[in-house]
Amino acid sequence: MTENPAFWLPFTANRAFWKSPRVITQAKGHHYLTDQGQELLDGFSGLWTTGLGHCHPKIVAAIQSQVSELDFCMSFQVTNNKAIELADRLAELAPASINRVFFTNSGSESVDTALKIALAYHRARGEGQRTRLIGRERGYHGVNFGGMSVGGMMPNRKTFSAAMLPGVDHLRHTHELSQMAFSQGQPEWGLELAEDLERLCRLHDGSNIAAVIIEPVSGSSGVLVPPQGYLQRIREICDQYGILLIFDEVITAFGRTGAAFAAERFAVTPDIITTAKGLTNGVLPMGAVLVKDEVYQALMHGPEEMIELFHGYTYSGHPVCAAAGLATLEAYAEEHTFAQSRQLEPIFERLLHSLRDCPHVIDIRNFGLMGGVELAPRDGKVGVRGFAAFLDCFKQGVVIRNSGDTLSFSPFLNSTETELEQIVETVRTALLRLA
Ligand SMILES: Cc1ncc(COP(=O)(O)O)c(C=O)c1O
Repeated sequence: MTENPAFWLPFTANRAFWKSPRVITQAKGHHYLTDQGQELLDGFSGLWTTGLGHCHPKIVAAIQSQVSELDFCMSFQVTNNKAIELADRLAELAPASINRVFFTNSGSESVDTALKIALAYHRARGEGQRTRLIGRERGYHGVNFGGMSVGGMMPNRKTFSAAMLPGVDHLRHTHELSQMAFSQGQPEWGLELAEDLERLCRLHDGSNIAAVIIEPVSGSSGVLVPPQGYLQRIREICDQYGILLIFDEVITAFGRTGAAFAAERFAVTPDIITTAKGLTNGVLPMGAVLVKDEVYQALMHGPEEMIELFHGYTYSGHPVCAAAGLATLEAYAEEHTFAQSRQLEPIFERLLHSLRDCPHVIDIRNFGLMGGVELAPRDGKVGVRGFAAFLDCFKQGVVIRNSGDTLSFSPFLNSTETELEQIVETVRTALLRLA
């Protein structure tokens, strides 16, 4: 490593990082190896991405074979066989009414694509006045201008306040400690928070609202689980006012909630689903926006030789990424990964909630294989205790993540019980000695 490394890390405290860098050089299965020779259990499956484990042989082989067969081809007015096939497989996996797929390269791009499709849909139907977008406080929808605007995490918005999209409102978030601390799965309290959407419909008139975007389970802001009935009520209000419902499933798709999509697990079908991460098991960057046929059909008008949606990326449907996606979906099916994840859920829940009496813990939340342990902040220093816990766990050989003072967990969908125990016991050790 040079004395003054050029690399500017994303979402990282760069100056502190370079004083004691954490550099991974290899990964296999459920473990990483660092440049210091330390073996780490990956308690976060990459970055919510790699549910099947690292360097899955089937995915590695598919990429190696594809890159020597068709490395890339033009993606506008021309496409490749692997992208066509992957779109069909995704449409089969998605809820029945959702059967069109637009490819992107990341979660952020999936979100901005979904927002643009929503605006284009209403305009095509002669309802061009529907331009307002609704997000939610503490929501995370990536870092591009659209996703940042509908997102609700203050630090991500603060610096860019002047550049937010106009016409965006936010629902209240659903995390109310006094009512729901230590809930296991979906909190019983909080259904009435969905009425916030009704309030915004009355304020602006629902006929001006294009779409509501929410994460079925918020991930990046510390695992916020929807109250019982909340998502159903949001769907009802959207239907009442003709508003499109977008589920941002960049984290929750592909087994994280014990089903192909959280939409399936919660039995609530949105109009658009955004995905990325688990689509290729995190191996190559790729996202997909899954869209109801009705939305797609509304845009298929005008002269047939005219482009219907002026949107797309050079790498939309990249053949090597698509090959990785196909191998990943096959592996999920062959290994019954979604069912396996569902079976692990009660074990994970029990272990996570065993941390309840540890010092500093003020809440524990879980759904599927997503978990959050919220710590009381150190006096006036939000996030410092959470980051100290992350560092302690890393030193002990387990990778977790902290969102401020909430420790987040995203274990492999095919974890062993022993691995889940190791993650929880490592956190316990850290908490017991943390100031
Ligand atoms: C719900 C959600 N949407 C969007 C994104 C952005 O994805 P990316 O970092 O791939 O752009 C994330 C990333 O964590 C996410 O969790």
